[in-house]
Amino acid sequence: MSMEAPVLMRIIQGNCRLYSNPRLLLSKHRYLQTKRSSSSAPDHPSNETRQYSTENRQYSTALEFYPENYEDTHVVAPFRTDQTVKPYEAIPGPKELPLIGNAWRFAPIIGQYKIHELDKVMWSLYKEHGRIVKVGGLIGHPDLLFVFNGEDIRNVFRREEAMPHRPSMPSLHYYKQKLKREFFAGNEGVIGVHGPKWEAFRKQVQQILLPPATARKYVEPLDVIAGDFLTLMEQSLDRNNELPGNFLSEIYKWALESVARVSLNTRLGCLEPHLPNESESQRIIDSINTFFWNVAEVELKFPVWRIYQNKSFRNYIGALEDFRTLCLKYITQTMESMELRNYDNVKEEDVSIVERILMKTHNPKLAAVLALDLLLVGVDTTSIALASTIYQLSQNAEKQQVLFEELQKALPGQDSKVDVAAQEKMPYLKACIKETLRMYPVIIGNGRNLQSDTVLAGYQVPKGTHVIFPHLVVSNVEEYFDQPEKFMPERWLKKDAKSAQCPAHNQTKIHPFVSLPFGYGRRSCLGRRFAETELNIMLAKIFRKYQVNYNYGPLTYKITPTYVPEQPLKFKLTQRNS
Ligand code: HEM
Repeated sequence: MSMEAPVLMRIIQGNCRLYSNPRLLLSKHRYLQTKRSSSSAPDHPSNETRQYSTENRQYSTALEFYPENYEDTHVVAPFRTDQTVKPYEAIPGPKELPLIGNAWRFAPIIGQYKIHELDKVMWSLYKEHGRIVKVGGLIGHPDLLFVFNGEDIRNVFRREEAMPHRPSMPSLHYYKQKLKREFFAGNEGVIGVHGPKWEAFRKQVQQILLPPATARKYVEPLDVIAGDFLTLMEQSLDRNNELPGNFLSEIYKWALESVARVSLNTRLGCLEPHLPNESESQRIIDSINTFFWNVAEVELKFPVWRIYQNKSFRNYIGALEDFRTLCLKYITQTMESMELRNYDNVKEEDVSIVERILMKTHNPKLAAVLALDLLLVGVDTTSIALASTIYQLSQNAEKQQVLFEELQKALPGQDSKVDVAAQEKMPYLKACIKETLRMYPVIIGNGRNLQSDTVLAGYQVPKGTHVIFPHLVVSNVEEYFDQPEKFMPERWLKKDAKSAQCPAHNQTKIHPFVSLPFGYGRRSCLGRRFAETELNIMLAKIFRKYQVNYNYGPLTYKITPTYVPEQPLKFKLTQRNS
């Protein structure tokens, strides 16, 4: 039996001693009740988010733009069978060859679709075939239907049934539900999981994760972590005041430290100077990177792994196993420490997500699997969003100056805390993040597996089709954004006398379904509020203190499957005078 076995057994069987201690359970119950009644902010998402309902609005403007995540009503277009609707077969797209369909296009050497260049593939499909494109004949994979227009994206999202199915990660599904079934059985999590299992899990966790009020509880520790990361950045500057070429890997440390603090109330120590390669934190980061790097190979190419476990698949599974084992150690520590805590006097920020979930569900396995999901997808995504936003600001000196002026007003000193009140005075910063995610969405395309027949762009589309929303393209075309190639945060700001002078305001309305960096609806991102809070704090600290430049020409991006800058991020930091 392996070293981890006793720990795993306890979690698997759900028999942590915690639940045999009535005093502790009672104090936790009291804790939850007191906190609920004392909290001024709504704890249930629907209270807060409903006021932003877009139900009666075709389009919305500015910062209130995000479509409702919790709409109860769904406008479902009936499946039309009249003559004006064209058949599915008539949808344009690249021609399928006999026997090998379009699968050859992803083949090495002869194929023109490179997995790491899917951004280019999306652009060429749009340019060659138009607003709806079918890529059929992908052996071992259903047809992919690329929908390049906001109305059809809205139509698919609005039809979402109770259990939206995001067509992703069958290999992760295989890992969780076949290879490691004994561990995940009954609590499969949300990533790579669909149908009733996904729904049952998500229902248990979303009320804790989604409300903005939850993320606000962690502002203070996240501010401390951001301060530590800024110190690490300062220590690593070279004699030209430039950050090292591996700055992106450094950012991963900040993101992992942040998500672990929120999920587990643990400081992993990722921000220690010169973190050894063999340290557990570095190994967690490496396993996440290996997972992401191989997932594209495993998922998007012909799924060889179903017949033969090739190198990519072995690396992929190895990374998941390393990740699970390393993280479980910290997850278990958090659970065990609950036994010793008296929650009557604990500050909100010191109660982790895992503890909150455990108190609510009394299910340690569920809490552990959730923590694994959060750590798996909460590091790479936020890191890249941070890197891309710094880069955009470094390329747009004027916008950086506007941001600096806003930050000077919100934060009196260069090292001021970025608390909740200060963040409320930073609409321009939030617009900079939104604009970056419009131009460079971390996830370049989202999707849904249609749960019922529908009509899209005048074509019949059968149930089961994988519909892809290629946001990278849709949020970068002139049809939806004036001068889409320009970084103009002002697009997202409410009109006022000052910002109205900006050409971005010639465009008054933004279609609510063309830039959805965190997805939409019942399957939308569970970590969005944490990601936004982490980004606000980190960016505010950097740009309040430093002017940032990048002197190495335009960055290019590749798919891993997140959208990652390829060149070394050697940003130059020049300290401001005040
Ligand atoms: C800038 C950072 C991030 C971006 C751009 C992002 C984006 C996304 C997107 C596009 C989805 C798919 C949503 C859909 O299908 O409608 C998603 C799902 C998800 N995200 Fe994020 N994410 C970010 C950060 C995070 C963080 C920090 C966490 C965890 C702390 C997280 C946890 C999740 C989870 C658990 C799901 C799956 C939800 C489900 O399937 O029910 N994300 N994210």
